[in-house]
Amino acid sequence: MSQNHNITDETIDSIPKVFVVGAGIRGRKHLTLEAITYLRKVPVVLFFPTKSISSQWLEENIEVIKCESLLPLYEDGSVDTDNYNRIAKKILVTAQKHGSVTVLIPGHPKVGVSWIQDLEKYEYDTEIELKVIDGISSFDTMLTDLRRDPLEQGAVVIDANRMLLYRLNLDPRMDYYIYHVCSVGTSRTHVSNPSLDNRLDLLKSWLLRSFPSDHEVTLVQSDIISGDRSAVETCLLKELEKLASSITFATSLFIRGVQPSFESLDKEFLAMVKQN
Ligand SMILES: C[S@@+](CC[C@H](N)C(=O)[O-])C[C@H]1O[C@@H](n2cnc3c(N)ncnc32)[C@H](O)[C@@H]1O
Repeated sequence: MSQNHNITDETIDSIPKVFVVGAGIRGRKHLTLEAITYLRKVPVVLFFPTKSISSQWLEENIEVIKCESLLPLYEDGSVDTDNYNRIAKKILVTAQKHGSVTVLIPGHPKVGVSWIQDLEKYEYDTEIELKVIDGISSFDTMLTDLRRDPLEQGAVVIDANRMLLYRLNLDPRMDYYIYHVCSVGTSRTHVSNPSLDNRLDLLKSWLLRSFPSDHEVTLVQSDIISGDRSAVETCLLKELEKLASSITFATSLFIRGVQPSFESLDKEFLAMVKQN
């Protein structure tokens, strides 16, 4: 425990509050009532504009007092951690200036948002009080787009770079949802041209250790507006690079698990389940 945690109730009241709110994936219709409550609660909202969520819309329709885009802090081609540090710092400074701030971000705040960890550190050091409000994540929308239940065969949600960095062994009997296939082997955020520096060849080699080369892989981009026109593109694993030109910062790679064989059943366990 940090010694800063030894504080009184009075000082807690003066700590700036940061509410990080998930906006969901499919535009304004994914905003929850809880999200809207937190958008109205604060003097300033920081957010990432999307096709259907603009400053004007937030101010005129959701009665947000004032909003500011975080997009200029996310520089095309920058090292990812530089972008994240800029964003976390901006949130901290805004909260200190106004007493509270709501940050509206795509999807669910606890799915793949690295700078939340910086905010958690600020919270640990009692510089802010942090609250995270759930949003619908891309994992949720992909299940609908792919018509797949993650419990059917078991599923692994994993970051592409982490898988390669730790040479994580894969179990091909489970489904894989691979995140951040836009920046394999690079820390650069080439948002306007994700195929730059993207080492799909390394990802393919690692996947080929566990999956057959003619196994189908699917690139998914859940549609952000209607949910009706999600982009889903399939190819064989051995041709993974074919997907390069379709990859964006909002695509994930899905690999359906291979059906386990009857021989791999634990017969004793099966008998026990049937008996009880
Ligand atoms: C920084 S993470 C943010 C995820 C977000 N917080 C969420 O809850 O979906 C970005 C990664 O999420 C995945 N992603 C984001 N939007 C997506 C979408 N519309 N369809 C499929 N995957 C998406 C991609 O793997 C992308 O590289």
